[in-house]
Amino acid sequence: MPDRAFADWTRERQQRIEQVLDGLLPSAEAPGSPRLAAAMRYATLGGGKRMRPLLAYAAAELAGGARDDVDRCAAAVEFIHAYSLIHDDLPCMDDDALRRGKPTCHIAFGVATALLAGDALQSLAFATLAGARRMSLNGCRLLADAAGHAGMAGGQQLDLDATGAALDVGALNTLHALKTGALIRAAVRLGAACGRTLDGHEARALDAYAAAAGLAFQVVDDVLDVEGSDATLGKTAGKDAVQNKSTFVTLLGLEPARRRSQALHAEAVAALEPLGAAGGRLVQLADWIASRKS
Ligand code: IPE
Ligand code: IPE
Ligand code: MG
Ligand code: MG
Ligand code: MG
Repeated sequence: MPDRAFADWTRERQQRIEQVLDGLLPSAEAPGSPRLAAAMRYATLGGGKRMRPLLAYAAAELAGGARDDVDRCAAAVEFIHAYSLIHDDLPCMDDDALRRGKPTCHIAFGVATALLAGDALQSLAFATLAGARRMSLNGCRLLADAAGHAGMAGGQQLDLDATGAALDVGALNTLHALKTGALIRAAVRLGAACGRTLDGHEARALDAYAAAAGLAFQVVDDVLDVEGSDATLGKTAGKDAVQNKSTFVTLLGLEPARRRSQALHAEAVAALEPLGAAGGRLVQLADWIASRKS
């Protein structure tokens, strides 16, 4: 039975982050190229589950964060995510034509503009975080680590290196933890950093939660690539097998991969136990991550 209060909480924050992103993105009148601004807006607005912003909001609510700072953290992570999707879809990477139910950015605007839109979104992410009142410097460093060589970009390279190769489970865990997990952990840590200083055990609980939920998220992505359709996913289904990607499904098979995502979900929920009722919203988000169909 879907929880009505959770659905309302989710919808309100999805609407809020949409407005925040809209306000931070360059308009057609802003200095610079209207075409580039249009490509950035096209790739960022009007689609996506906004899961990383939701995690940032939930973590901030747990720690009692100031609203404006939380908005900036949530938006910064979503800008990095939107940039990563543009580049992930490029012909030199996954060569995808469909994203969030629309033609990918490079199909709509051309490869060169799509490349620049990703670059400019990355810059906008750091400019956004630099405007936060608290923790702007530490926050920028945290996001840089999550997006860069030891995070998302590094994971994307491991993904390319692993194409057509036979990885073991440990190597695939590392790949997923970097390409997807790092940004999800950053969303939780940035959200929490907007509020009071957490005790060591609280911070460790949150990070263990985010690591397990982040990995569960990518395992579910691998499963949905096989089980889903273009219509339900808003992106091309079945591409991992065609492109010889190393995923949990290609490594373990569909049913074991599903069980792995359930085990990671349980791990995420267990990690929050020390936080008691305060972790309730994050538990609901973990449930959503594990059971999502899109
Ligand atoms: C897709 O992320 C890319 C991965 C890291 C698996 P999402 O499934 O969060 O994509 P949107 O933002 O909802 O479109
Ligand atoms: C992409 O992983 C992760 C990113 C860093 C963007 P995938 O290549 O599996 O994401 P989808 O399936 O295209 O959304
Ligand atoms: Mg990819
Ligand atoms: Mg892809
Ligand atoms: Mg995928």
